[in-house]
Amino acid sequence: MAGIYVWGTGCGASELVEQGLKPEQIAAFVDNAPFGETFLGRPVLLPEKLPVENCDLVIVTSRQTEQIARQCEALGIPRERMLFLKNSWEIADRNQHCQIASDLLGDELLDKLLPRQQVVACPGQLRHSRLPDRWLAGDYVRLASLELLCRQAAQISGAAAELGVYKGMFARCINFLMPERKLYLFDSFSGFSPKDAPTAGLQEAHKQTTVEGVKAVLPFPDQAVICPGFFPDSAREVEEGFCLVSLDVDFFGSTLEGLRWFWPRIHGGGFLLLHDWGNPALPGIAQALDRYQQELGQPIPAVPIPDRNGTLVLCKVGKTR
Ligand SMILES: C[S@@+](CC[C@H](N)C(=O)[O-])C[C@H]1O[C@@H](n2cnc3c(N)ncnc32)[C@H](O)[C@@H]1O
Repeated sequence: MAGIYVWGTGCGASELVEQGLKPEQIAAFVDNAPFGETFLGRPVLLPEKLPVENCDLVIVTSRQTEQIARQCEALGIPRERMLFLKNSWEIADRNQHCQIASDLLGDELLDKLLPRQQVVACPGQLRHSRLPDRWLAGDYVRLASLELLCRQAAQISGAAAELGVYKGMFARCINFLMPERKLYLFDSFSGFSPKDAPTAGLQEAHKQTTVEGVKAVLPFPDQAVICPGFFPDSAREVEEGFCLVSLDVDFFGSTLEGLRWFWPRIHGGGFLLLHDWGNPALPGIAQALDRYQQELGQPIPAVPIPDRNGTLVLCKVGKTR
């Protein structure tokens, strides 16, 4: 029998058994302050009595993850033999090596025990994340949120799109996460619309991009439909519905045009990511949304996310397609 030890004799431990780990699979429980000698019919040990040589896996059900990780390490149990069931903001690489847990418990049980959407502080913590760490490190919250939203959006029909692509750094993530969807990319490739009155420096900086350059950073360039030119003229030929749209054009006028064009074309259950909505340096974004909601005559359900530039995620309610 595998040496599976469960650290903690509280609610977390009983939930673990309710979720499918049979008491007879548990060699013993371990607790710093045991309430009795047995729990759920199995012995309860003090940590110093844990037989390290027979210990294949310690499942930590307590929230005291950092302290217990240190105790286990002091006993000689390596990190890859520990499985933490509670979120921890302190342990950067928690559950990064859960191959042993996967072998002993099976993926079906492991998936039940570690919900898909556990997000904690550091890059690489989104369970089953597909984005490379070096991309996530740019703005972890923005990209991890995008990954979760793409998982949701993949359940409905429609293409993905971005208005305001610049060098394609965000577009490549959408393309990577939704490789089976068409990705419409709208940018002037010559900076902001003069109507938006950007500063000379900002305008100059945003001219430093090309259609070819964007294509070159996309992992699945064949899915991209690049529409160069000023929006909304550049969208005249496009007849599509969308499941996920990123709107990132920095100024009032183009943001309002983007909302007017995209919002009616987003399918029920889809999302529009309004970048910079919470950015005090770009007040036109929130003003454009206010204006558009006035035009609509109703507020749009939305969730702010705490990424670097204050994205607001607008959620399209309605029948999914
Ligand atoms: C902040 S950058 C986009 C950055 C990109 N989304 C990213 O995360 O890497 C804004 C881009 O919007 C483009 N843009 C702004 N207004 C536009 C309009 N009306 N039509 C087309 N492109 C526009 C600019 O040319 C610029 O490249």
